[in-house]
Amino acid sequence: MMRSHYCGSVTETSTGQTVRVCGWVQRRRDHGGVIFIDLRDREGVLQVVFDPDQPEMFKQAERLRSEYVVQISGRVRPRPDGTVNSNLATGKIEVLAESLDVLNRSEPPPFTLDDDAVGEETRLKYRYLDLRRPLMQKNLKLRHDVIRRIRTTMDALGFIDVETPILTRATPEGARDYLVPSRTHAGHFFALPQSPQLFKQLLMVGGLDRYYQIARCFRDEDLRADRQPEFTQLDVETSFLSMEEIMALIETMFVDLFQAVMNVDLVADIGKLPHMSYAEAMMRYGSDKPDLRNTLELVEIKDLVADSSFKVFANPANDPKCRVAALRVPGGKEKLSRGQIDSFTEFVKQYGARGLAYIIVNEAAKGREGLQSPIVKNLSDAALSGILARTGAVDGDVIFFGADKFKVVCDALGALRIKLGAELGFTAAGWRALWVIDWPMFERDDEANDGAGRWVALHHPFTAPKAQNGPHDAAALEADPGGVLSQGYDLVLNGVEVGGGSVRIHRAEIQQAVFRLLGISDAEAQEKFGFLLEALRFGAPPHGGIALGLDRLVMLMSGSASIREVIAFPKTQTAHDPLTDAPGLVDARQLRELSIRSTVAPATSAAPTPAVTASP
Ligand code: AMO
Ligand code: AMP
Repeated sequence: MMRSHYCGSVTETSTGQTVRVCGWVQRRRDHGGVIFIDLRDREGVLQVVFDPDQPEMFKQAERLRSEYVVQISGRVRPRPDGTVNSNLATGKIEVLAESLDVLNRSEPPPFTLDDDAVGEETRLKYRYLDLRRPLMQKNLKLRHDVIRRIRTTMDALGFIDVETPILTRATPEGARDYLVPSRTHAGHFFALPQSPQLFKQLLMVGGLDRYYQIARCFRDEDLRADRQPEFTQLDVETSFLSMEEIMALIETMFVDLFQAVMNVDLVADIGKLPHMSYAEAMMRYGSDKPDLRNTLELVEIKDLVADSSFKVFANPANDPKCRVAALRVPGGKEKLSRGQIDSFTEFVKQYGARGLAYIIVNEAAKGREGLQSPIVKNLSDAALSGILARTGAVDGDVIFFGADKFKVVCDALGALRIKLGAELGFTAAGWRALWVIDWPMFERDDEANDGAGRWVALHHPFTAPKAQNGPHDAAALEADPGGVLSQGYDLVLNGVEVGGGSVRIHRAEIQQAVFRLLGISDAEAQEKFGFLLEALRFGAPPHGGIALGLDRLVMLMSGSASIREVIAFPKTQTAHDPLTDAPGLVDARQLRELSIRSTVAPATSAAPTPAVTASP
């Protein structure tokens, strides 16, 4: 028997017994002729004592260093009075060593494992050491618990786990593809799936009815704290369910997950997750993923300043593509310094705002005399009192303003709202989830097409418009693409998009109309998605689904600041793995086999250039 107990599971109930434990030496302390080591394994840390009575073993213990791997047998005894450590599960006892075996030595680790300030590059290069840290172990265990619970629930709800291909064709989810060259079809490439979207739809055509998969997805996009080039989705698709029914089903799973794993009731207040339209989310929160824990809200004031002489407000107020909005900060006068207010002006410029007008409300009852601001002189009494009334401002508040293109104002004030929420305590602790629905089908990308503009799908091109069943639907879509809402839905948790899905188009002619609207010609649609269009013609059932970002979800649940903290072997912000040094160079022969030539000269190359051998 290698061991009888995990280090972390030896407690006072084993007092008097002999145990055998294995693990890593976290620390060695020499104390007046006695040696203590903290021995660590997956389950925790155990204090082991070496007594000079056994000189052989004692000498060996003196040579123990951090991260040596040892096996120890010994007797469990209570710690002497005054040395109990109540922070440790094993803190009431210690093990008096009776035998010591060094199973392996370790070079001095490049960082101490209890140092929280180690650079991420170093942590990732030595990830196997980093993973020994209790926090990483806890995160990966949580991830395991989440996936296990999801599998149990999905199974209970009648879902079947089906694997879909990794070597496939491009799926348009809005990112660049990772390509894999084909050796057997020279000049042709597989794409790694950005999601299993098309296959899960084909599974519905195939009659599977309810599918799920813990699916790896690949997207070559600019990385951020909540994005990885390869990440994991809980991917789901269903047949013969309405949008409301699909959302309710997913909600059941999601609420259960939080209850089971976090002991949190997400629907404590109204018994279900709130639904909010995209339009309302943008108007009130300046974001399509509002953090409802934050009590600050935007209000529209276009109508109040439309005939003002202040052009900064009046011009956008009279332009349908623009908005003029106000954000009230209760008690802002006390909470914010002038310096801070100025720094916010710089902050919103990152989002394209040209300025950040503000009013400090000293004494509302005094009218304009009671207001302190560079802009009050430009606004009429009616506008000022209208603004105070609509924002609900009282003495001591500060009101910020944005006036610009709709998106710029939403982005700028939306970001300011989040910043103020975090820095001034307007964002409560806890959990707030909601569904965002009624998304527009399409969004205009004015810059595309050399300035000619084009429509892009807000979710993806397979999302069904609302009421897709009328005979004239394709025509209605074409008549007013910007005005059509979709049957898409996002699941938002604490201001993070944790999932997105939709009811799909299940009729080929509507799918074709959407492709056309997106500027995909019939020929191109046939080339790229011909198999889907064909499948839709063979009795495709009404269907729809969703995908949840598992890494993001576990990141939130674990309270981590980055998605990389919940992935065993993640990539850096430049999509590089410092541990294996991937991506790497390949030798010329391999490229030739793949009918590929690189336009980049091989770097001073650690890459071997073996003699080209004839293939057998
Ligand atoms: P979508 O593109 O919205 O939808 O992705 C679903 C969820 O996956 C997560 N996610 C990511 N997580 C980490 N790194 C990334 N690079 C990344 N990109 C996305 C997000 C997101 O909400 N096929 C559709 C789903 C469907 O319609 O059913 C899809 O992939 O949490
Ligand atoms: P100005 O008239 O340019 O001196 O601006 C007066 C105030 O309006 C300053 O506080 C600016 O920061 C602010 N401001 C300027 N442009 C905008 C804008 N587009 N949205 C909101 N505030 C603005």
